Amino acid sequence: MVEERTELQFERRASLRAFNSFGLPAVAAALVRLRSEADVKRVVDHPEFGPAKKLILSGGSNLVLTRDVAAVVLKVEILGRRLLRETPEAFIVEAGAGENWHDFVAWTLQQGWPGLENLGLIPGLVGAAPVQNIGAYGVELKDRFDSLDGVDLVTGRSVTLEAAQCAFGYRDSVFKHLLAGKTLITRVRFRLPRPWAPVLGYLDLQRRVHDTGNAHPDAQTIFDWICAIRRAKLPDPLQIGNAGSFFKNPVVSAEQCRDIIGRDPSVVHYPMPDGSAKLAAGWLIDACGWKGKSIGRAGVYERQALVLVNRGGAIGAEVLTLARAIQESVYGRFGIRLEPEPVIL
Ligand code: EPU
Repeated sequence: MVEERTELQFERRASLRAFNSFGLPAVAAALVRLRSEADVKRVVDHPEFGPAKKLILSGGSNLVLTRDVAAVVLKVEILGRRLLRETPEAFIVEAGAGENWHDFVAWTLQQGWPGLENLGLIPGLVGAAPVQNIGAYGVELKDRFDSLDGVDLVTGRSVTLEAAQCAFGYRDSVFKHLLAGKTLITRVRFRLPRPWAPVLGYLDLQRRVHDTGNAHPDAQTIFDWICAIRRAKLPDPLQIGNAGSFFKNPVVSAEQCRDIIGRDPSVVHYPMPDGSAKLAAGWLIDACGWKGKSIGRAGVYERQALVLVNRGGAIGAEVLTLARAIQESVYGRFGIRLEPEPVIL
């Protein structure tokens, strides 16, 4: 039998380079590894770490480190995954916040619980998925979310939050605002609806349907398509440091959209239900000529202009300089302020 650890495991002056997908150098004053909910409570009760400022670190795949971190870094490593309930309407599946997201999605499919296939190959861990309401190819986390457990980092109390309390928006949630740095997510539950229905609306998926002649792909096939599509246009962080899309796709009013179409009729835009329009930030950046360009050791990925990459040995300041230069040129040409998507520290 494995005995439960009762001592907190931590390291002082810990390098964070291996723990952020951009591969940026930074040192944390202290790094605490959390393998259970009990560990989180131990941090809260700890004489030194309890009152200290804290930074919750998940997979580090949505993070730009521009300096050393004075806060205590809480590295979430809580594992475990299981089917909680099966009803005629849904499978309710639970995963520890430290589980790898992609492996979790692949596992749900192997078990015969489809629903997360469009979210395959998104880097990061399960616990970060609700924080930014990850989304891809027509599905957002909130569409498959049931509830989550966390620990209040001030009181040490366990909390359970339902969808409405998480205030999910486009790449947004309460964990980026009111509860930022305050609630550490320990477990997430997913509601995978039955009967399963494929989501094939995205152009890239429509193309696959057309090219393969398979109009009724099963969930595993969609998952394989998604992985292939992502591999073709997004760099693997293990080979080229990056944090996925660096900017959010901006939402503009119908009037602004008309103005931009007036300037450039080919602008990629998607009408939203409320009359506004979402513009493809990647297109705007590309149109300004940034694709493949670099400033210092930070660059714009050759196959997707929305992704900034570490060309080798970059520091956070170089990534920020590049990001600001891109923001300025997109603003100059289209009058749109691009908002960064990752957390910048
Ligand atoms: N485009 C260009 N040039 C580029 C990049 C894109 O013209 O260099 C055009 C494409 O041709 C396409 C449009 O812009 O018409 C949209 O591009 P894409 O389909 O690659 O998607 P995206 O809007 O750039 C968003 C998400 C991705 C997600 C994909 C698929 C955001 C910020 N990004 O990217 O999420 O995988 O849609 O759903 O919403 C992430 O958040 O890290 C991420 C990768």
